[in-house]
Amino acid sequence: MTYQHLVQRYNVPVPRYTSYPTVPSWKDRVDVQQYKQVFKDRFAFENKANGISLYIHLPFCESLCTYCGCNKKITTNHSVEEDYIAAIIKEWQLYLSLMTETPVIKELHLGGGTPTFFSPENLERLLTEIFEASVIHSEYEFSFEGHPNNTTVAHLETLYKLGFRRLSLGVQDNDPEVQRIINRIQPIENVQRVTEAARAIGYKSVNFDLIYGLPLQTIDSIAKTIDQTIVLRPDRIAFYSYAHVPWTSKGQRLFDEHDLLPPDEKIKLYQKGKDLFLDHGYFDIGMDHFSLPSDDLYKAFLDGSLHRNFMGYTTQHTNILIGLGVSSISSTGQSFGQNAKTIHNYYNHVERGNLPIEKGYLLTAEDVRFGRYILDISCRGKTNILPEDDETIDIYCRIELEKLKNDGLIVLNGREVLVTETGKSFTRNICSAFDLYIQRNKVHSEKRVFSNAI
Ligand SMILES: C[S@@+](CC[C@H](N)C(=O)[O-])C[C@H]1O[C@@H](n2cnc3c(N)ncnc32)[C@H](O)[C@@H]1O
Ligand code: SF4
Repeated sequence: MTYQHLVQRYNVPVPRYTSYPTVPSWKDRVDVQQYKQVFKDRFAFENKANGISLYIHLPFCESLCTYCGCNKKITTNHSVEEDYIAAIIKEWQLYLSLMTETPVIKELHLGGGTPTFFSPENLERLLTEIFEASVIHSEYEFSFEGHPNNTTVAHLETLYKLGFRRLSLGVQDNDPEVQRIINRIQPIENVQRVTEAARAIGYKSVNFDLIYGLPLQTIDSIAKTIDQTIVLRPDRIAFYSYAHVPWTSKGQRLFDEHDLLPPDEKIKLYQKGKDLFLDHGYFDIGMDHFSLPSDDLYKAFLDGSLHRNFMGYTTQHTNILIGLGVSSISSTGQSFGQNAKTIHNYYNHVERGNLPIEKGYLLTAEDVRFGRYILDISCRGKTNILPEDDETIDIYCRIELEKLKNDGLIVLNGREVLVTETGKSFTRNICSAFDLYIQRNKVHSEKRVFSNAI
C-alpha cells in the first residue's frame, strides 16, 4: 500500500493520547470527597519516592489566533493578573491541606494561553508562594511556554533565576500571508531575539511549536518556514497537525474552510517537514515530535525513560500531576480530574474553598494496563501484552492489530507489538487499537469528538 493510501485509510478521528482513558470518556459528575481521598493516599505513597509534577495554566492572551484550540481568554486588560494569581494560590493551598508532608516538586510547567502575558514580577510572586511550601527535587525540570511577541529579557531572566531551563516558543508559521489569515503577525526576528536571549542567559533547551495544515500553507511556504527554523537550531520541534475542531474552537469559523488543504495534500506538508528535519540532524521521537540528539528528549527516548502526560512528551516521570488553574488536568496514576473550563466557574469553586474539579475519572485495573500499552507505543515504539489481557485483546483489538500489521505499520511478534518506521507517522492510530473505549464502541462511534489523525 502506498503512503497516500495509508494516509487516506488512517485519516480518522483519533485522540492524541495524553491520557488513557481520554477526556471524553470521563464522568461529568465527580465525587470530590472520593477524589480527595484518592489524592491523599496516592500523594502519601508517591511524594517521597518520585516527587510530583505541577502544571499551571495561565489562560490570558492579548489577541486571538484564529486556529487556536487551547483554553484561553482574550483580553488586553492586565489587571486580571492579580485575581488569577490569588485564585491559583488558593487552589494550591487546598491541595496543601490534603498533604501530610511537604511536596517535592520534580517537574513544573507553565502553559497557556500565554504565560508571558503575566508580568515577570507577578510570575515571580506566584512561584515564590508555591515554592515556599515545597521542596525542589534534585533532578527538577522547569519549563514554560513563551509567546515570541511578548517574551522579554526580564521574563527570561526572572524565570531562569527561579530554576527554569526549558522554554517552548509558539512559532506556528513564518509566512506573512498565513500569519495574516491566522491573525498572528509575528516577525521571525522576534523568534530569533527570544531564542538568542534565552541561550545567552543559559537556557539549555528551546522548543519551537510549528503547525502544518494551517490555511493558505503550501509546500513551498512550509519549506521556507522550516528552513528559517532550522537556522535557529531549536533543540526540539513539535510539528503539530492542525486540529480543525470548529464545533469547540469558534475562532476557527473565522476563516474559509476552502483555504484548508485536503488530507492527502496536508500530509505532504508533514512529509516535507519531516524530511527537512531528518536531513538536518533531527530525530523523529514520534507523535509529531523531533529532537536534536544532544537534547534530553532524545536521550530519554534512547534509554526508555521517555514519558507522556497532559504536557506532551517529558523526560521526567512522576505519577502525581497537580494541574492548577482553569481547565487544568490533574492525575494520580489512579484518577484524573479536570478543573472548571470557564474562569467564572473556576473562581466560584476556589472562592468557596472547593477543589475546582468538574470532570474526572477513577481508573480500573484494566484501564491502568491498557494505558500502559498506549504509553509504551507512544514513548518507546513497542509494547508487550500481558497474558491476562489475551482474551480482551482477541475480542476487541485483534482485528485492528491485524489490519495495522498487514499495512506494515506494526510487527506482531507473539505478545510483542513493534511500531515500524512507516508506522511512526501513524502512532495515534496504533495507540487507538488499544483504546478499549473506542474499540468497544466502534459500532456506535458516529459522534465526532476528536480531530482527524492527519
Ligand atoms: C497553548 S499554545 C501555547 C503557546 C502560546 N500561547 C503561543 O501561542 O505562542 C500551545 C501550542 O498548541 C498548538 N496549537 C494550538 N491550537 C492548535 C490547533 N488547532 N491545532 C494544532 N495545534 C494547535 C500551537 O502550536 C501552540 O503553540
Ligand atoms: S495560540 Fe497561543 S497566543 Fe494564540 S490564542 Fe492560542 S493560546 Fe493564545
